[in-house]
Amino acid sequence: MGWKVYVTRLIPDAGLQMLRERCQVVEVNPHDRVLARKELLPAVVGRDGVLCLLTDRIDTEVLDAAKGCKVFANCAVGYDNVDVPAATARGIAITNTPGVLTDATADLTWALIFAVARRVVEGDRFVREGKFEGWAPMLLLGGDITGQTLGIVGAGRIGQAVARRSVGFQMKVLYTDPSARQELEKEVGARRVELDELLREADFVSLHTPLVTETRHLIGRRELSLMKPTAYLINAARGPIVDEEALVEALRDQRIAGAGLDVYENEPALASGLADLPNVVLLPHLGSASTQTRTRMATMAAENLLAVLEGRIPPNLVSADVTDRLNLRR
Ligand code: GLV
Repeated sequence: MGWKVYVTRLIPDAGLQMLRERCQVVEVNPHDRVLARKELLPAVVGRDGVLCLLTDRIDTEVLDAAKGCKVFANCAVGYDNVDVPAATARGIAITNTPGVLTDATADLTWALIFAVARRVVEGDRFVREGKFEGWAPMLLLGGDITGQTLGIVGAGRIGQAVARRSVGFQMKVLYTDPSARQELEKEVGARRVELDELLREADFVSLHTPLVTETRHLIGRRELSLMKPTAYLINAARGPIVDEEALVEALRDQRIAGAGLDVYENEPALASGLADLPNVVLLPHLGSASTQTRTRMATMAAENLLAVLEGRIPPNLVSADVTDRLNLRR
């Protein structure tokens, strides 16, 4: 069908196969790294569709370079990397990959909860460094998980999945969300509260909001100061939701017990001093990083991209206003 498609970085093969079966040209970034701006701009010229990643900033400059392109299919559920209004104004469809990574991301959130509260990473390092001389009554004492209070900030798909997993640990669940989540309340006895109350009461504060203007620095100095000194902050959502400099101070002064982070304010850079702190577990944005999940994300992004090229409304359209302009039909 003569379509020319660009993929900004190597993704699981199943997604590429789908594109190759239906498009004339499928070009993939040949480097295993994020493209520099001066590489991305020429790469999108003359494409009918682009499959991009959360590490690509898709702004007006890129959208203008991609003149004539019909779709940017983001291979991620979050799309704060894309200027959606600018794309919509240019008649370019934006899609994402919701749902398929909910469980993987919820699982990883729990990995962070366990790792930070039970000092798993510190313990591993301790053993490898040859320091283990036998069981000791005061060695690497952490915090309890079972029976504690879990605070879910943002009870969308992922926040709810994290909350559901707490049932086996007999936790009390508090949540904040613009909407009441009645099913969650029924299923796990969760209670909807204001953010300040959640911060004051939760032993684990876990962030699951999208990154939008209202959630940038949602957790800053004031919010951290409301948390218990025994509480942990978990972020597997987006880095800029937390004021990372304020978090470093809170961790350094032991005003909170610890943090488990999968994302960073200026990813991949870390705030000064963060990596020197013992009471934080740092992961390299692995929320959806299982083979099965990343494969599903790749095929979902490919399906979204192909749908637009074939004149169909894609299953996961973020920029709903473009359907008429692109003449997309069900
Ligand atoms: C990962 O962070 C995603 O948004 O899919």
